[in-house]
Amino acid sequence: MKVVDSLDRPMKALRISVTDRCNFRCPYCMPRDKFGADFQFLERKEILTFEEIIRLAGVFVSAGVVKIRLTGGEPLLRHGLPSLVQGLARIPGLQEITLTTNGSLLVDQAEALFKAGLHRLTVSLDSLDPQRFRDLSDATTPLERVLEGLEAAGAAGFRNIKLNCVLKRGVNEADILPLAAFARDKGHSLRFIEFMDVGTGNGWRMDTVVPAREVRALISAQWPLEELHAAEPNCVAQHYRYLDGQGVLGLIASVTEPFCKGCDRARLSAAGALYTCLFASEGMDLKGPLRSGLTDEGLLALIAERWRIRNDRYSELRTEGTAVRPRVEMFHIGG
Ligand code: GTP
Ligand code: 5AD
Ligand code: SF4
Ligand code: SF4
Repeated sequence: MKVVDSLDRPMKALRISVTDRCNFRCPYCMPRDKFGADFQFLERKEILTFEEIIRLAGVFVSAGVVKIRLTGGEPLLRHGLPSLVQGLARIPGLQEITLTTNGSLLVDQAEALFKAGLHRLTVSLDSLDPQRFRDLSDATTPLERVLEGLEAAGAAGFRNIKLNCVLKRGVNEADILPLAAFARDKGHSLRFIEFMDVGTGNGWRMDTVVPAREVRALISAQWPLEELHAAEPNCVAQHYRYLDGQGVLGLIASVTEPFCKGCDRARLSAAGALYTCLFASEGMDLKGPLRSGLTDEGLLALIAERWRIRNDRYSELRTEGTAVRPRVEMFHIGG
């Protein structure tokens, strides 16, 4: 079955959050003053089991999904993640399984994930300066551990690893050129992401966004760039090629140049709810129906029906000045 939403967008990618917990406290995602020691994360029984995730993923694939991205919170905090990857890899029709991680636990897990059938990795890396890295992750894991994780991933067999850097005005602009140099040197595909107003507590203001065009100007003055035109309308990043042949750069301009028109991404939260937008206020519960015995056909009907009425285009509405709150926290639905 192929379902399209009310704006004629198919459902092709599914982002699955496997846990709402994280060992980092990035201020733009889980600021420590809001998500401190007494914050109530989901309990074990509230979280989908691997069997439940695999079953739901199969239903999503029958609705048109061809790519799955595992996220969190921090997905590597979920015990035995490689066995989930293995189960997903057996779903007929699924073309790609990827993972977005903060990299802190990759040293131990990269090899098992690769062997389990994970196709690609994205690692968040906001700074190459040890102190700024510490401030931006607000955790005890040193930068060194993430860099070792990247090496381990390469050694395990991962290629074309993506690096994500969220930029915030007055915080990490000084990291732009060093990160670009690092990625060029290591053969990683670096993407700079505009700081977004996700969730409710990250203190977002328009003047804290470093526009993608500014990043492009800064980098191309050092290493000339050529724009690559997107093969698919659903891509979040604008891609550039370094004219000297040293790889590609991505810019994710979700604030200054929204990309809702081609948005084919569904999100499944750790608690088993379907969200049709990163900025949605509510999800549709799938765990309840699943646990009370609904068949795959019944689940497919629920999902398809929800997708058909989807009209989300939050980032475009923000640009138009008509966006509204409240919004789900990003770590529930994984970015
Ligand atoms: P692939 O296209 O599968 O490679 O995945 P991706 O590039 O979407 O993966 P990744 O998790 O690395 O996404 C990068 C970042 O782009 C996310 O962390 C978000 O900050 C942003 N992003 C991804 N999808 C969306 C989206 O649907 N809407 C908005 N506004 N931002 C998004
Ligand atoms: N704005 C932009 N990107 C964000 N991410 C988390 N919070 C934000 C935000 N407020 C990114 C992280 C990571 C991905 C999962 O989401 O940097 O790369
Ligand atoms: Fe954790 Fe990622 Fe959120 Fe940072 S952005 S707090 S690493 S989930
Ligand atoms: Fe998709 Fe919502 Fe992001 Fe627009 S704002 S690209 S609809 S997730």
